[in-house]
Amino acid sequence: MTRLATLEPVDGTHNIQRDSVEGPFSWDFVKEKFSRRLDGKTNMAYECVDRHVEEGRGEKTALHYIDDSEEYRISFNELKETTNQWAAVLKKHGVKKGDFVFVFLPKHPHCHIAMLAAIKLGAIVGPLFEAFMSDAVRDRIADCEGTFLITDRELYKRVPRQDLPSLHTVFLTDGEGDGGEISLLDELKTVESTDRLIEWVDPEHGLNIHYTSGSTGKPKGIIHAHRAMGQQYLTGRWVLDLQEDDVYWCTAHPGWVTGTVYGVFAPLLNGATVVVHGGRFKAETWYETLEKTGVTVWYSAPTAFRMLMAKGNQLPQDYDLSKLRHILSVGEPLNPEVIYWGKSILGKRIHDTWWMTETGAQLIVNLPTEPIKPGSMGKPFPGISVSVLDEEGKELPPYSVGHLAIKAPWPAIMREVWQNPEKYNSYFSWGEWYVSGDLAYQDEEGYIFFQGRSDDMINSSGERIGPFEVESKLIEHKAVAEAGVIGKPDPIRGEIVKAFIVLKDGYTPSSELLEEIRIFVRGELAAHAAPREIEVVEELPKTKISGKILRRELKARELQKLA
Ligand code: PRX
Repeated sequence: MTRLATLEPVDGTHNIQRDSVEGPFSWDFVKEKFSRRLDGKTNMAYECVDRHVEEGRGEKTALHYIDDSEEYRISFNELKETTNQWAAVLKKHGVKKGDFVFVFLPKHPHCHIAMLAAIKLGAIVGPLFEAFMSDAVRDRIADCEGTFLITDRELYKRVPRQDLPSLHTVFLTDGEGDGGEISLLDELKTVESTDRLIEWVDPEHGLNIHYTSGSTGKPKGIIHAHRAMGQQYLTGRWVLDLQEDDVYWCTAHPGWVTGTVYGVFAPLLNGATVVVHGGRFKAETWYETLEKTGVTVWYSAPTAFRMLMAKGNQLPQDYDLSKLRHILSVGEPLNPEVIYWGKSILGKRIHDTWWMTETGAQLIVNLPTEPIKPGSMGKPFPGISVSVLDEEGKELPPYSVGHLAIKAPWPAIMREVWQNPEKYNSYFSWGEWYVSGDLAYQDEEGYIFFQGRSDDMINSSGERIGPFEVESKLIEHKAVAEAGVIGKPDPIRGEIVKAFIVLKDGYTPSSELLEEIRIFVRGELAAHAAPREIEVVEELPKTKISGKILRRELKARELQKLA
């Protein structure tokens, strides 16, 4: 275990001093931050938007949108009004408390507005990643028998309506469809009143559903509750360090939990200005977005930082990034080189954070006031107890690698895995410990170092990919008899999806065939799930008794090739 130089915090005014919260920590004081205390009825969208208007911050910019061709701002006043109007339309067409409302829209204020409008009505919102193709969309909506969908004409082409009998109403944000879809913008003109729209709900009421991959089976629906707002607000304040005048950019799409929790909820709960950037990654555009919108706090991911690094150190010098005050990362291991690059080229430390879809908020963090140890994900957030457990669930001493576990509960922990109590219980096989599936060790100061996954899950560009889902899709291709999928280390993406396939009789390997197979997966699941490498093999290694594919063996062979 090599020890790298720590990066000390820079003096400055921050929202937190850990000393101030040492001693018994209680989440109770956070409840005071909300107008409707969390022990009564509440509503996340109200606290994100309307509260700021009522407290006199209505003129402040809530959303600052920018893409290649346009740029505009939406104030908290306007966001309140627009989300009310959208909610009125949704309500008119039957959306009510507890309904699943899916939102399939690109990174655009419409996506934020749709989510907040549905939440105002007490619906459970299911944002879908804009790159999902039809299978991924179908699996998610079908699993929880989603009834409502808000989308646009382009993305609607990827919604296999015929396979989704539960989906009875589709709202289009940019026009009309020819199958009875509702034109949301036209309907807005008919709204007469937006009074008494907000559904006040129990803190335990369902808020959002995000599907996440496991190493077996289809993605599981993780449902969070409105009570998560306490921790989402406080991590926004202490970890993102959001302050009065911050302009904040989280680069993730709300289809990923980061894009919802730290792209919508946490910053808006803190009344920050949220930058929404439409379009794909391009180094120049990203630097330009930072400059033009005057981003002060920036939350992104290691792959993105590595892609920026790969573009060279001159490029950032061409932009005025002087407003940038605080940078954070999440989703995959943050390499020390990236932290050193951040420090020398951007002039800022990059603060790693660790959490999962299931945890609902950051749990392991680097507070702005504390030293960073490159290679470590940081320390537990105040009030969170983390441990590293052995194979029997016993706590291990410092520097022993084991299962990263968190003492449950904490305010933002998932409420349930949709219709899968068995899966939910599987996280708690050692009683009060939530077992993350990650392997890690702790040093004597409590800094936690990520060491990998204990299962076969793949993490490519921070996106969690279940090998089973990709294998199932691969064998739907006419030429593929069997498939085994692993994550192969990659300098930019962390890992890439690599597939080993056995071809059916009568097929011979060729680069055209492999490309066709890749496009097949990409076209039906999503681009990030399509194998970047496919290798044809004679047979796959399997367990003797059950005949299960031994992905670990495939991975070991691959690692050996790389060594
Ligand atoms: O393996 C860990 C990795 O991402 C997993 C969670 O993925 P997901 O539910 O998609 O949520 C991602 C963003 C909240 C974890 O089990 N992971 C997350 N953050 C880090 C990380 N791995 C290393 N370092 C991190 N900071």
